[in-house]
Amino acid sequence: MSDARRIIATVRDGGSPSVADLQWFAQGLATGGVTDAQAGAFAMAVLLKGLGEPGRVALTRAMRDTGRVLTWRMDAPVVDKHSTGGVGDSISLLLAPALAECGVYVPMVSGRGLGHTGGTLDKLEAIPGYTVDQSETDFRRIVAEVGCAIVAATGEIAPADRRLYAIRDVTATVESIDLITASILSKKLSAGLEALVLDVKVGSGAFLPSADQAQALARALVDTAIGAGCRTSALITDMDQPLACNAGNAVEVAEVMGALTCDPVNQRLWDLTEALGGELLALCGAAPDAATGGQRIISAIRSGRAAERLARMVAAQGGPADFLERWRDHLPAAPVVRDVPALGQGIVARIDTRAVGEAVVHLGGGRLRNGDAIDPRVGFSELKGIGMNVGPGDPLAVVHAATEAAAERAIAAVQAAYVLGDGADAPDLVQGRVA
Ligand code: URA
Repeated sequence: MSDARRIIATVRDGGSPSVADLQWFAQGLATGGVTDAQAGAFAMAVLLKGLGEPGRVALTRAMRDTGRVLTWRMDAPVVDKHSTGGVGDSISLLLAPALAECGVYVPMVSGRGLGHTGGTLDKLEAIPGYTVDQSETDFRRIVAEVGCAIVAATGEIAPADRRLYAIRDVTATVESIDLITASILSKKLSAGLEALVLDVKVGSGAFLPSADQAQALARALVDTAIGAGCRTSALITDMDQPLACNAGNAVEVAEVMGALTCDPVNQRLWDLTEALGGELLALCGAAPDAATGGQRIISAIRSGRAAERLARMVAAQGGPADFLERWRDHLPAAPVVRDVPALGQGIVARIDTRAVGEAVVHLGGGRLRNGDAIDPRVGFSELKGIGMNVGPGDPLAVVHAATEAAAERAIAAVQAAYVLGDGADAPDLVQGRVA
């Protein structure tokens, strides 16, 4: 008979739980038969000892099968992208409507902030009224009518991940190839996708910072997804600096609205949206190659049609009907807004991107304990990038905080995270491809 203690002990001692044990454990996560303490201990044992490839595949499938696996009968491909987690990475909010505008369907089942990284759901909830918890019927209706929807894994979709994800977030158990693979793919394979592009982060802000680990994670994700019948490829992309200039929740939505309405354009955000979107359109056969797909994504954004599509999705999910015209009025603003002055002079040579993400969490933009409420107003804007010149006292960023004391702590954290030197080139945005 299966027993959580025995399964945890097997993993702790470097053994391989059987497929039946992993199915039992995943069911226990979904139904509550496994306690929070047992889930945390299991996650720590997996992080320290690993499950091996068969165990990883079995856990992924078992977690997927705790919920429904959707099937679609649409007149165009059903596709999605997912990232392994970054700082200042709001790509999903740009890419989902741009892809929909290119004629494919995007039923995006996303996550909340995890560890030091931001989560698409928390960002969207900064929009007053936006509801990430949708019934399957409403999710299907919005995807059919708008072309894209961004929702939480419901009780119906991968409920085991919903629970384990929240526990990993607060137990320092995120950084595991097995757990990241099972988490991402249990959700994505439940959504009934025909094609999936993965954005595997590498660098100081990634869960697995080294190039070797990123390559191994990309390989595990691609092989597991293809093995489950989904056309999949991965781009390995830079997280040695925040992806865009803003990191937080409302501030990232604001940056996306700026990018979608071309005012101002953040080039790294656009470039990665183009690369991931092009890859995905080629993968599902909606474009002859990635370069052509990327051009279509950019023209969907440049024309303003992707912005209109995002606004329709926001309204369909309970947000304001006039979000496109009045997003500045609708997004909540922090009461304390202060510059982060540079302590010296030079060129930004290195950024401890994880520390910047942690600073957002400590401002209240992420969670320190399971169930903590998020403060959508806080974070950073105008973060300087690698290779930029700063003089003494010039702002490295602008902090948005709930109190003066929180702003002071965040200022010190960013000053410590930035290393100034004589020169540095910005790292390449796309550093590899795994298919
Ligand atoms: N995104 C997820 O959905 N899960 C992870 O574990 C990491 C990133």
